[in-house]
Amino acid sequence: TARRRERLLALMKDAARFYYDTLWRPEYTPVQRYFAGRGLSRKTMNRFGLGYAPDSFHATMDAMQKKGYTKDELLDAGLVVKNEKGAIYDKFRGRVMFPIIDVRGQVIAFGGRVMDDSKPKYLNSPDTRIFHKGRNLFALNLAKKTQNDYFILAEGYMDVIALHQAGFDSAVASLGTALTDEQARMIARYTKKIIISYDADGAGQAAAQRAIDILKRADLQVNVLRIPGAKDPDEFIKAKGAEAFRRLIEQSEGHNAYRLEQIAAKFDLTEDDQRIEFLKQAAWMLAAIPREIEREVYMGRVAKMAGVTTDALRIEVKRAIGQRN
Ligand code: CTP
Ligand code: MN
Ligand code: MN
Ligand code: MN
Ligand code: MN
Repeated sequence: TARRRERLLALMKDAARFYYDTLWRPEYTPVQRYFAGRGLSRKTMNRFGLGYAPDSFHATMDAMQKKGYTKDELLDAGLVVKNEKGAIYDKFRGRVMFPIIDVRGQVIAFGGRVMDDSKPKYLNSPDTRIFHKGRNLFALNLAKKTQNDYFILAEGYMDVIALHQAGFDSAVASLGTALTDEQARMIARYTKKIIISYDADGAGQAAAQRAIDILKRADLQVNVLRIPGAKDPDEFIKAKGAEAFRRLIEQSEGHNAYRLEQIAAKFDLTEDDQRIEFLKQAAWMLAAIPREIEREVYMGRVAKMAGVTTDALRIEVKRAIGQRN
């Protein structure tokens, strides 16, 4: 019911306040130092409402019950969990806390990170009456106010926060799940252009390939940014600075060029047999480009890369289009 929803939203807001207050207590200076060590200013921490969940099985529960919330409400909110024996305890313990805020500015969930190398690195709120993974984007509440004509899509909480701190205030993240069509449509409500800026590792690049298709379905113009010499945007900015990241944005390529390079990277184009295999795979990719003129542009590029005529390639692409349909 609407009333329970309102109550849940109030609970989440109070929880965010509790985590925030906890972080700034004198005994938690090591936690404050953790964030400082990751390069975050106090202003940034406040803007994102960062906090800390005490390393206790009941500190959050106690604090929230003191504010008048029941155990059932805390279970509904996903802030406490119940084990097989029926014991109820805090879900987030000894973790730095990232509030997840919806477009209207309401706290609807949390992500919590350990401060060391233990696993799992991040814990996230479960789906609840007010939170549905895949229907929200981290920092969309801030990004929607940007003056930029593009959004940046990153993987992680820290990436988005570091990007905003560096002045890239249109960064959002899909919250640890694969990007959904619904999230892509949400982005398309605020911008025409999205720059995918996922992690440099294999998982990040594979996720970028999938994200391209999803974002294209939402009619977005899609660029892909590559991060040389660092794991993710956060680490890149920390090492090389905001100006260097701005250059990466400027150098980011359209998704077709990006895909072609991903394919080309698998082959040694000085070898005939590998060049042929490259052409087959590239033709298959080109066949998926719906617009004739766009396809023509990239056909020219592929032909040049492999040292064949565009006419020869066009025959191969026509064949691939036939097979695709
Ligand atoms: N994630 C998650 N659960 C995990 C690991 C990751 O929900 N066990 C999500 C988080 O939203 C995380 C994102 O996936 O921010 C990207 O994961 P990863 O690259 O591993 O973490 P980073 O964001 O780089 O985190 P950090 O820099 O704090 O190590
Ligand atoms: Mn539901
Ligand atoms: Mn990763
Ligand atoms: Mn990181
Ligand atoms: Mn990462």
